[in-house]
Amino acid sequence: MTITQNPLLQSPARPMPKRIAVIGAGTIGPDIGYYLKSALPELDLLLVDVAQPAIDRALARFSEYANKAIARRKMTDAEAAAIARGVRGTTDYAEIRGADWVLEAATEDLPLKRKIFAQVEELVTSDALITSNTSSLPSARIFSELRHKRRATVTHFFAPAWRNPVVEVVRARDADPAVVDWLRWFFCTTGKVPLLTEDVECFMLDRVFDNWCNDAAMCLDRATAAQVDSVATEFVHAGPFFVLNMANGNPIITETNTLQAEVEGDHYRPAPIFRSVASWTTSRLGQRVEVPPQVAEAVRDRLLGILFSQCVDILDRGIGGAADLDLGCRLALGFRQGPLDLMRNLGEREVRRIFERFAAERPGMPTPKRAFVQYLGFERGVLVDDLDGVKVVTLRRPEALNALHDDLNDEILSVIRRHESDPLVKGFVLTGYGARAFCAGADIGRFPGVLGRADAAAQYARDCSRLLVHLDQMEKPVVAALNGMALGGGLELAIRCHAIVALRDAWLQFPEITLGIAPGIGAMVVPYRRWPNAASTFHSMLTRAERLDAIPAHELGVFAELADDYGSMIARAVALVHALDGKPRTALDRPVTIAPAAAAGADQQAFSREVTSIIEQAVAAAAAAPTLNAALEIGYAAFGRSACTAAAREGIAAFGERRKPDFARTG
Ligand code: COA
Repeated sequence: MTITQNPLLQSPARPMPKRIAVIGAGTIGPDIGYYLKSALPELDLLLVDVAQPAIDRALARFSEYANKAIARRKMTDAEAAAIARGVRGTTDYAEIRGADWVLEAATEDLPLKRKIFAQVEELVTSDALITSNTSSLPSARIFSELRHKRRATVTHFFAPAWRNPVVEVVRARDADPAVVDWLRWFFCTTGKVPLLTEDVECFMLDRVFDNWCNDAAMCLDRATAAQVDSVATEFVHAGPFFVLNMANGNPIITETNTLQAEVEGDHYRPAPIFRSVASWTTSRLGQRVEVPPQVAEAVRDRLLGILFSQCVDILDRGIGGAADLDLGCRLALGFRQGPLDLMRNLGEREVRRIFERFAAERPGMPTPKRAFVQYLGFERGVLVDDLDGVKVVTLRRPEALNALHDDLNDEILSVIRRHESDPLVKGFVLTGYGARAFCAGADIGRFPGVLGRADAAAQYARDCSRLLVHLDQMEKPVVAALNGMALGGGLELAIRCHAIVALRDAWLQFPEITLGIAPGIGAMVVPYRRWPNAASTFHSMLTRAERLDAIPAHELGVFAELADDYGSMIARAVALVHALDGKPRTALDRPVTIAPAAAAGADQQAFSREVTSIIEQAVAAAAAAPTLNAALEIGYAAFGRSACTAAAREGIAAFGERRKPDFARTG
């Protein structure tokens, strides 16, 4: 069985679980339970612990989370009630009987875990899933006494597990690969980011985190905990000692590093201070403290040394993939950028210097086994799979609903360029990672930099269009498979593909007018030329940010096909690539006649009049333009003009501040 990069390309080999038992009502067990119930409200969830007070606290925590979500308008009362329904706590293991998945999140203690699994195996069927949330013990050890090992592996969550998207899914040697694949599919479909990891001590991300903390503790001979944290915040949102305090992590480092030392050598031994200190004296989050320059440099080098050492080791031993490693460090461990990106940005010379110093201070620790560049050449924001001669390119930026930034645009283009002249490749499918979004548009983080500069903004739009212009000129078909929302620049990408298939609950929107800007990379041009029958629909989308749902989009001919689930959507997209092979594309080079826009109604007050007028003028001028290129240039220039309005400043600021923009004030 081939493993697909995008977990949702596998057809699920099991039904959705109906009854899950989580063993261990400490902190992470209930948090995992809360995520499961939020994702699957119909689920029958059992929280099992030996201590009734722990169960009571866990159930109270469920209500606390739901109440907070209601207060923040992230959840309705009915949704909260659905989460609370069907959750029970028990101290009686016998109640596990009938569960189709037992997820163990008990104390990190090998004999205890083995005992739990022996009990569990007596109660559940031989194909019920059994997974452990251990952060360090390989599944080969914890499941060694199971009779039916093929259904068992490690699924390792990160705190806070109800919200932290990352889950390491361990490729256990004895586990059925179909079980591992199903777990990846399940997590991805329920909003998590599963990272496939080999079955070694501490898996992938805890190797980074535990050793980062361990070496931080070794720096205490030259700096205080607050100083080490302060130096570390160049790279992480919270320093190692701050995190250790929050997680009561000292005993964990002692355990996990002892485990690594036993298997991989004494250089992994935990710093003795972890045994004698309960908590550290640290500063408030984000607060910098004074650190003498020489001390800061020594600490910085040491922290980077251990970080890079662990990363090259993970890659050299194939414990995890490069993109997963960077993504996991950012999303699960709070690194500001992935360590491999950090290496790339520091440059070979500096990284080599750091490694040399580190090797002298920490003999035995892993050093690079390959040339520097070999660690850095990987796709960061896309996953590429091959299905039936078609390259399926999945946009994966789960932290921003797959929004497109410059590097992601370039990456998609370079994947296409790399494969398009290969006769074995029939074409491409572009889709989004996860169950929510194809793409939430251009990355809004880039916009403030071009505000007030018409030419720079127009050039930015032109640069963003490189991929789209390439798509226009391609002969091999590219089909967009919309697995959820396609907004702004994401929708502009989809409409440049040769055809679009979509899930029935996908939807489209140009929200730019709500940001006080014009959508500059084709939205004011392409829909009118491609689907003239839908001109009035697109006009309302552009000037009033109206949503277009999948069914009307299909009726208007914007979507070629609709699908009920991700797997069949991709199958249809792949079939469409084959069907479109050699067929001519809709010509977009001819001007079109469009009906004059209706006068803006009273509710237009919700949007900027100035930007609405920029859009309307650009749409009319672009429709009449003699070539596609000339029409696109009108769009870039209109974006540039809109970026100079007071409305754009207000709209972009409001998005960042999570408030409603006030266009009545800006005009
Ligand atoms: N650019 C950059 N980041 C984006 C983004 C974009 N276009 N769209 C979403 N994100 C980020 C959010 O900032 C948020 O990050 P955070 O968790 O660090 O705060 C994350 O993705 C999740 O989005 P969030 O807004 O929390 O989800 P939601 O369910 O509340 O709302 C949307 C979803 C799509 C309605 C909302 O994210 C949105 O309006 N996005 C902007 C869409 C847009 O205007 N696109 C056109 C740009 S040209």
